[in-house]
Amino acid sequence: MTSVVAKSYEKGADPVVAYCSEHTSIQSSLQAELQKNTLANAPHSGMLGAPEVLTFGQNFIRSFGGKRVLDIGTFTGASALAWALAVPDDGEVYTFDIDHTNYKKYGVPVISKCEKTFKKIHALEGSALEALDKLIADGQSGTFDFAFIDADKANYSNYYDRSVTLLRKGGVIFVDNSLWNGAVCDPAKRAESKSTQAIHDANDKIYQDDRTYSALLNLGDGTHVAFKK
Ligand SMILES: C[S@@+](CC[C@H](N)C(=O)[O-])C[C@H]1O[C@@H](n2cnc3c(N)ncnc32)[C@H](O)[C@@H]1O
Repeated sequence: MTSVVAKSYEKGADPVVAYCSEHTSIQSSLQAELQKNTLANAPHSGMLGAPEVLTFGQNFIRSFGGKRVLDIGTFTGASALAWALAVPDDGEVYTFDIDHTNYKKYGVPVISKCEKTFKKIHALEGSALEALDKLIADGQSGTFDFAFIDADKANYSNYYDRSVTLLRKGGVIFVDNSLWNGAVCDPAKRAESKSTQAIHDANDKIYQDDRTYSALLNLGDGTHVAFKK
């Protein structure tokens, strides 16, 4: 099967995807530096968020005045940086990763060049699910504006549930890699891979969820967008 799903920075990206990205993605110099550094040096660099998805998320945050963001899956910090640039000076980005080695090695040296942006990012290392449950236990439900789900696929449905709880009415969730290079469409591939099945289950759950309005978009590697009612 020829895939029409791709991140724009991947070599040989579909021309329509490339064209859409060229007319969507906007990067600051720090974002361009972090993307270049990540693609050149970081292990598993293909985990880097697609710039077209990050720009689209920034557009939402800026247009509805989002201030508090959950960033689930930091890697080198590209998504956390995008949201930190989009929120106002008193905004906050909580970014979660089981291991912040890549963030400290590749992200922090670049992002910390802009103190104003860097100080908005709270990096929490450890299980993202436990950290989200702690925020809920601490009484932070309904206080976040935007959530980006991009960590381990097995927990996608759990991250979505926690995000719905933590978001205020009208808050927006982006679920990244919702098409998983097209694999979710193929029952045989779902049977072969727990991650593929877990993303498919999350897509079904979001589509049927009465707590949100939603749309699954062929943007980047698939972006499932949900709006809390
Ligand atoms: C696709 S990358 C995130 C990419 C990043 N959002 C970006 O835009 O470049 C996924 C990250 O999830 C992290 N991760 C995997 N399992 C996790 C878990 N149980 N809790 C928190 N983070 C986890 C990985 O260490 C990895 O850095």
